[in-house]
Amino acid sequence: MKLSTSLHRKFTLFSKSLLFCICAYSFQSVKAQKTTIPVETKNTALVLQADKDNNLSIIYFGKKLNNSSEYGFVQSMYHQNTDYTGVAASPYTPAGSRNLFEPAIEVTHADGNNSLDLKFVNTNTEKISDDVALTSVVLKDPAYDFRVTLFYKTYFRENVIEQWSEIKNNEKGNVVLHKFASADLYLQGKTFYLKQYHGDWAQEMQPEEEQITHGIKTLDSKLGTRESLFQPPVFMVSINQPSNEDNGEVLLASVEWSGNYRTDLELDNKDNLRIISGINNYASDYPLQPNKTFTTAKFLYTLSNNGTGEASRQLQSWARNYRILDGNGGRLTLLNNWESTYFDFDEAKLKQLFSDTKKLGVDLFLLDDGWFGNKYPRNSDNAGLGDWQENKKKIPNGIASLVKDATAADVKFGIWIEPEMVNPKSELYEKHPDWVIKQPKRPEYYFRNQLELDLSNPKVQDFVFGVVDSLFIKSPNIAYIKWDCNSVIYNAYSAHEDNQSKLYVDYVEGLYNVLKRIRAKYPKVPMMLCSGGGDRVDYAALQYFTEYWPSDNTDPLERVFIQWEYSYFYPAIASANHVTDWGKQPLKYRVDVAMMGKLGFDIPVSKLDAKDLSFCQSAVKTYDSIKNVVWHGNQYRLQSPWKNDVASIMYVDSTASSAVVFNYLVNNRYNSGSKLPIVLRGLDATKKYRVREINLYPGTHSAIKQNEVYSGNFLMTVGLNPHADAYRTSVILKVEEAR
Ligand code: GLA
Repeated sequence: MKLSTSLHRKFTLFSKSLLFCICAYSFQSVKAQKTTIPVETKNTALVLQADKDNNLSIIYFGKKLNNSSEYGFVQSMYHQNTDYTGVAASPYTPAGSRNLFEPAIEVTHADGNNSLDLKFVNTNTEKISDDVALTSVVLKDPAYDFRVTLFYKTYFRENVIEQWSEIKNNEKGNVVLHKFASADLYLQGKTFYLKQYHGDWAQEMQPEEEQITHGIKTLDSKLGTRESLFQPPVFMVSINQPSNEDNGEVLLASVEWSGNYRTDLELDNKDNLRIISGINNYASDYPLQPNKTFTTAKFLYTLSNNGTGEASRQLQSWARNYRILDGNGGRLTLLNNWESTYFDFDEAKLKQLFSDTKKLGVDLFLLDDGWFGNKYPRNSDNAGLGDWQENKKKIPNGIASLVKDATAADVKFGIWIEPEMVNPKSELYEKHPDWVIKQPKRPEYYFRNQLELDLSNPKVQDFVFGVVDSLFIKSPNIAYIKWDCNSVIYNAYSAHEDNQSKLYVDYVEGLYNVLKRIRAKYPKVPMMLCSGGGDRVDYAALQYFTEYWPSDNTDPLERVFIQWEYSYFYPAIASANHVTDWGKQPLKYRVDVAMMGKLGFDIPVSKLDAKDLSFCQSAVKTYDSIKNVVWHGNQYRLQSPWKNDVASIMYVDSTASSAVVFNYLVNNRYNSGSKLPIVLRGLDATKKYRVREINLYPGTHSAIKQNEVYSGNFLMTVGLNPHADAYRTSVILKVEEAR
């Protein structure tokens, strides 16, 4: 035993030094034959290199170097264990040839062979704008006419990269894709920490962080839709230390796909971290016909050397500039009727709600679930989905007339739909059972008493598009849509598909086809992305939506934590936060928590007493005065709710002249409160700022000295105490440059 161990050690040492010599030699002597491909943003570089045999590897991923010619030296500084495969650092690891790790791509060729090798062919970088560039890298199997093109879209100022692949079959017959990831990253570091999320209904974005050990950790969804219900696709990897707001190297990432996704994080024999992410290949062998191309989902990431704060500001500004619909525009404040009426309303009640909307001072009334279905009226969640005709008893004069009434009350009108779904108790189900996803030989199994329509079928896509289109044709002044999706896919089977393993992928593509058609015809109308709460929040879906519903859990104490965690990945402008009657917190606390995103209400306004009503009315006006900073400013998470009595989050405008600081007590034990000053961020140290508390409840006075002037230097060194405690459970501070 001893002998063999020492022999093994000697052999390893020998092979290591041999390998080092080979590497060093090849770097010196065949330098000219190597192709180096730097994929760069302002601060980050992902550098690929093809060796003399056209094997492509990631040779560097990290903070951009000043001198790009030095990327070639990087690997000579690592004396790690042997790469027995030669493809461990591949940017798109193929299965079935030399690879010994989790692959990015796995195929069966037209002749039944399972092996794949991918050699570098050529590369091209195209400048799309001042900020955006697209690098493509073509790879080909030397033994088969099978190509993969890797795409890297860089957003220079935002330090964001989107990565995806196009897989092209030039063989004579079908190639079956068993795995078709978007990306394959390779990270080097001493230790890696994964922060991931899990959840369930009303428990979105529950974080867990742990050091990554050897082997594979998989984050995934097999739910078909509602991909974030149990495990949202967003995650972060911190290098050499657990995640920290202000320092350390951290990668924030997510696959952009509104269905089954899969991310594998594999710590290999060299202690390097491989991250392979894309559409989940679960039950999804995909046949690719000759001359056809399969485009994978995109994988999105940003890297920062200054902690999660900077990383999420990068991602948030990318989302506002490039992804979320109208990300730099405005949003509508609203009154929703879900929690105050549920399914029980009629025209008279709704008219009352229109005038309540006006009384409150918000922009729009949002009519929620329950307005449709006649043979099977939608009076509870067990009937009517699919039958998108106005219920004659509740709204005999139709939506068009409601829109007119709302307009007469001087408010806009929005409406809830869930067009991908069907209740078995519906006329749609009776007419088109073949449009429903269900196993022909098995009993139906329901999620919230409903089933999915088969969006892989173009006729179903037309139907779903038609639900939205006919609403607008009949009532062109509808100003807002809440698009819900309350069911997962059970019993995945399509009467339309010739090959069942295409269903999960084709469903999502079908959904995007519909959303694309809606946006082509109605490019601007604001739409909220809802999925029984926040179970479809992802950056592929968000390109069609202006905002998302984070959770049905609107208990404000819970929301502080939920909104805090979403904020690592998504900007405040997209977070629809409604004030409801959930939770035990005072109205002021509920309103203050909703204000750190896009404010809405879902309370019975007519039941508010005079003081509460007047507080809400002035809160809407106060919100108008700070919303631009919240929606478009830079966000700083100052104090975490997980570790402090008081959570604190701040938004600063782009000129550092105006800011808002939200503070929430999250601990109700004796004497808890903000004992120490909270250090502000993002201001200009050389400027002077006037600080005052806003959104006070009628009859109360601020415990802080109003309108005191401090230097930015003081506020960012010593800080400010919001005086949050059991008597002042939430405090909003406005910080304005004193000129
Ligand atoms: C889902 C949504 C809620 C509400 C109901 C209506 O649960 O998340 O906000 O719209 O559906 O049925």
